[in-house]
Amino acid sequence: MSLLRRIFAPAPKAVVPARSVATSPAPANTLADTVPARVIQLAGELTRLAPDRAEVLLARLCDGMASGSNENALYQTAEALATAVYPKYKFSEYARLFLEDTDFLAYYERFMDPGNWHSLDRKYTLDQLLKLTLHLAGDVAECGAYKGASAFLMCRAHRGSGRLVHLFDSFEGLSDPGEFDGDYWTPRALEMPEQALRESLAGFDNYRVYQGWIPGRFPEVAGHAFAFVHIDVDLYRPTLDSLEFFYERTLPGA
Ligand SMILES: C[S@@+](CC[C@H](N)C(=O)[O-])C[C@H]1O[C@@H](n2cnc3c(N)ncnc32)[C@H](O)[C@@H]1O
Repeated sequence: MSLLRRIFAPAPKAVVPARSVATSPAPANTLADTVPARVIQLAGELTRLAPDRAEVLLARLCDGMASGSNENALYQTAEALATAVYPKYKFSEYARLFLEDTDFLAYYERFMDPGNWHSLDRKYTLDQLLKLTLHLAGDVAECGAYKGASAFLMCRAHRGSGRLVHLFDSFEGLSDPGEFDGDYWTPRALEMPEQALRESLAGFDNYRVYQGWIPGRFPEVAGHAFAFVHIDVDLYRPTLDSLEFFYERTLPGA
């Protein structure tokens, strides 16, 4: 169980007296008499993780978790603890609107793996950027559609506009990683049948699907101008191929 989970798990009711671990009886009214041993152990773990800040963090944790704490205090508590456990992570500002956007959260939960919120900010940004291009006359394209989470946003934004959303994907997963791709990706990772994309887009008729390896089918849209292009193929080569093809076909403001 992670440290944070253990911190936030309800503390057991039973208080473990210091006598159970100490060789001589503890003096009355010590911390160990009143605080569950598990909590003391967690404080010890926090001290190990953030030796110079543990006291401040624990005090903040106490304040933040006190009954009646407002959301801002809880947020600051979460930030303090996350910073102690994983200092590289940088928290954003409190009260991000998208955390309150229940429609958007429902969209996200529908398309993404349960419990995986890792691309919530990117999906939200995509949705907002789409709005900035609605006044442009061009079409929309996506390179790397997978099962349609971002394609859904693109089709939704442009529904009824008369513009088409052109979706390019191998539906055989990733092409072979090249020299700039590191060793994370493997060939054919993220393979997904075209049918999964079509099911995600049920109810829309403003899209076309181009199955095949990028850039093989790009010439079919060579005569179009584009208001928005989303490139999401994970690898260097198809990303570059997509940029080279689409960049000169995007409109000013796209
Ligand atoms: C990260 S997923 C796309 C996710 C999608 N944009 C979304 O937000 O839901 C990457 C997709 O790129 C496709 N892909 C990767 N390399 C490709 C290539 N060389 N040609 C065609 N499709 C490719 C994969 O099949 C996969 O569906």
